[in-house]
Amino acid sequence: MREVIIVGAGMSALVAAIILSKENNVKVFTKGKKTDGNSWRAQGGIAAAIHKADSPSLHLTDTLTAGCFHNDSQMVSTLVTEGPKRVMQWILHGMTFDQKSNGELALGMEGAHSKRRILHAGGDRTGTQWMSFLNSQLRHQPNIHVFENESVIDLVIDNGICKGVYTKRKDGGTTKYSAHVTVLATGGCGGLFEATTNDPSIIGDGIAMAYRAGALLSDLEFIQFHPTLIKHKEKVLGLASEALRGEGARLIDSNGNEIMDGVHPSKDLAPRDVVARVIERRTMEGNQIYLDISSIANFETRFPAIFDMCVNGGISISEGRIPVTIGAHFLMGGIVTDAFGKTTVPGLFAIGEVARTGVHGANRLASNSLLEALVFGERTAEKIQRELEKTANWKSMNPLKLNQNGIGKPEPVLPERSEIQQRVSQALGVERNEHSMKRLLKWLMDYDVEKLESNKRISWTHETIERSNMLITAWLITKSALERKESRGAHYRTDYPASKNAYACGKQIFIQRSKEN
Ligand code: SIN
Repeated sequence: MREVIIVGAGMSALVAAIILSKENNVKVFTKGKKTDGNSWRAQGGIAAAIHKADSPSLHLTDTLTAGCFHNDSQMVSTLVTEGPKRVMQWILHGMTFDQKSNGELALGMEGAHSKRRILHAGGDRTGTQWMSFLNSQLRHQPNIHVFENESVIDLVIDNGICKGVYTKRKDGGTTKYSAHVTVLATGGCGGLFEATTNDPSIIGDGIAMAYRAGALLSDLEFIQFHPTLIKHKEKVLGLASEALRGEGARLIDSNGNEIMDGVHPSKDLAPRDVVARVIERRTMEGNQIYLDISSIANFETRFPAIFDMCVNGGISISEGRIPVTIGAHFLMGGIVTDAFGKTTVPGLFAIGEVARTGVHGANRLASNSLLEALVFGERTAEKIQRELEKTANWKSMNPLKLNQNGIGKPEPVLPERSEIQQRVSQALGVERNEHSMKRLLKWLMDYDVEKLESNKRISWTHETIERSNMLITAWLITKSALERKESRGAHYRTDYPASKNAYACGKQIFIQRSKEN
């Protein structure tokens, strides 16, 4: 048996693990519980052109248009053509999606889609239902071992090749695990920001690790802000899915005026970057923005998770409106991969949000993230399987417990998490400019962030490792965002408000650790 390590336990990780476990030992590491993570939180659903009135080419056009044509169109084509087949396979395996009374799949609508094409489960509990289903499948896979509360703190790089991972358990013990192949599925970086839809543990660990390993990264400046996080009494309660607007909810101010009127032809269903900026500007002017849900029939049964969140958070649904704010949601860029998850570091693959496949361009189309996780998670696993068949088996792959005494550099004193989040939110939010980004860059450099990336961190505490990953990821995003001197999709600069032709159609900002470090 060959050894495969998957870092992360979300949707892309599990679909890949299930394929790879047929002929390999698969170790899945997650720094928290396996029920943490963003995939569990997905509300809207998964986009797939399965209706006869829809087609992959329409889905492709919507994806490219929302992505401001910064997408890799070949990758998008793979996504939208393979997507429906792979979703249908899971339905044949027993995954159920919501149906209409006539037994047809109930397809939802979301922003910037030209057709109803969002499959959902349990109303707005798609992520929870699909992740529960996938976890139930793991019980039949003896070759998959899930290690909870064991965080991967670095990749084992030997002569430029990734050969496994170093992990740290809650008790502080460190272990070196060897593997033929390592797959990063660590998600994005929403936890770098004060307001986010993400699980707070998602802070860019995979980005920082891949950078230290010398992998090529790209498009880090494109961070999507979700327009509608529920915020009540200064507390963010969670996401109010875009599917609400697909079913007729409208964004209003406290006087009941529809705020998307006259802004975009698609009004409340305009691309997310457009809606998020309008809400942010109106909020900064002192307005409270609401989602008017009064026109949605059967709100409690169609959106049970959002209903529960509101009721538990003290919001009275009978008033027909939910207070909202914007928050960091999704990283479009990440570790550059080919169409089979391969990174530029031999032995290292990346899937899910941490990967830059190029499908999302400058702004992800709603509900394309679970689709990317599924399509590229499975393609990557199938490719790894084919490659491993040709690889010689290794004799011993036993984990090695490391003695931490005297290893690595002394632990640095790093800023509090809340300060990092506050500074990142201020400089890298939905609107940016050179002045505030340079100020953030200078602050990051004061912590010698360039050096943090090359330090050996085996003896550091878990908290210091996480904060250093936050600083490194923030630094990489800031450098990329400063370099893109234009506005495109989710990257909006008040000092360069227009898109530039010179950057048109996929001109990417790349970032990679230089060999001398
Ligand atoms: C939502 O339900 O609004 C989020 C879904 C997504 O980001 O694709």
